[in-house]
Amino acid sequence: MKQIKFFATAAKGLEETLEGEFKGLGITNATATSGGVNFSGSRADGYRACLWLRTANRVLEPIATFPCPSTEALYEGVYALNWEDRLTAKMTLAVDANIRDSELTHSRFVALKTKDAIVDKIRDRCGERPNVDPKNPDLKINLHLARNVCTVSLDLAGTGLHRRGYRRDPTIAPLKETLAAGLVQMTGWDKKSYFVDPMCGSGSLPLEAALIAGRKAPGLLAPDFGFQRWLDFDATIWQQLIQEAEELGRDIPSNLIFGSDRDKRAVDLARRNADSCGIGASVRWSYNDFAKLDPPGDSGTLICNPPYGERLGEVAELEAFYGKIGDTLKQRWKGWTAWVFTGNLELAKRVGLKPSRRIVLFNGPIECRLLKYELY
Ligand SMILES: C[S@@+](CC[C@H](N)C(=O)[O-])C[C@H]1O[C@@H](n2cnc3c(N)ncnc32)[C@H](O)[C@@H]1O
Repeated sequence: MKQIKFFATAAKGLEETLEGEFKGLGITNATATSGGVNFSGSRADGYRACLWLRTANRVLEPIATFPCPSTEALYEGVYALNWEDRLTAKMTLAVDANIRDSELTHSRFVALKTKDAIVDKIRDRCGERPNVDPKNPDLKINLHLARNVCTVSLDLAGTGLHRRGYRRDPTIAPLKETLAAGLVQMTGWDKKSYFVDPMCGSGSLPLEAALIAGRKAPGLLAPDFGFQRWLDFDATIWQQLIQEAEELGRDIPSNLIFGSDRDKRAVDLARRNADSCGIGASVRWSYNDFAKLDPPGDSGTLICNPPYGERLGEVAELEAFYGKIGDTLKQRWKGWTAWVFTGNLELAKRVGLKPSRRIVLFNGPIECRLLKYELY
């Protein structure tokens, strides 16, 4: 069977966690590198990756690499590819570009030139041109330009894989679903012992934990991927994968995963998000201040993503709050393993406990830490 090369992208710091996910998919040649994981496999493996990967942001299929020191080289390099095998004038397309250390420096310009070259090629061959649809294109193309070498890739899902489709209120700024899934996996939680997020906000961490423990494929939640509209789409394989994924899902005990927050609106939203993912009964939600929350048992995994405010006036208040987190962990959560994820390294020190691990991660451009505390 034809082997296709793929690249699954991940936030900086999550590459190895993503690599670990491939074992569960039966894909054995995955290797982590900066910014993601290289793997190769069949067309079905590409579909499987979109359906199952929890930490990946995108699954890309590189189709060409060429030197690209100028606009002309870009246009000609892109025009030369066999777009007519992948795109008709009736389909829509969109292009995004990332650029590093190159002569061409404007990603929007590079994306526009790439789109022009593809549209011109189809018009020259078919007499008609395809339209652009930036939101939900049939074919999404990614252009990566690094040190004047251009890689053109097809983006299988077409939208970021973090869009699981369960978010009910986009106005609250939560953790990205892919980052939350990565954090849960990094804790090494065994899926059998208690899992608690006492500052759950919109619920990303308990929800991703419940999806993991329930073996629910994240792609089943919003299975509308760009590749389903590609010319070579194999609907039979896709249906088989969907069916397998539906059969694998299992119910989990209702007293395993807990989400709590002192803000009632956040808890209500988390509940609605859980319902819209179809796992409403798998997480126990409560409304409480962390200092008063009782542990559900003698041991388990606690993870939290406390506020780390960017506004100056908040700092003094937050310093005291992080100190309180440390006190509460020490006094009330003995026997547990706690993880604190924060984008403010100074505040993290205020917890006042000695972390047994410090993991560097990026939340978009913000350098963060995931800190582990063993509460003997
Ligand atoms: C950065 S947000 C968490 C976002 C969450 N991880 C998500 O993805 O939606 C921090 C949360 O901590 C909650 N919080 C702040 N102080 C708290 C306290 N003393 N007890 C419980 N929750 C608290 C806030 O209400 C807020 O929802």
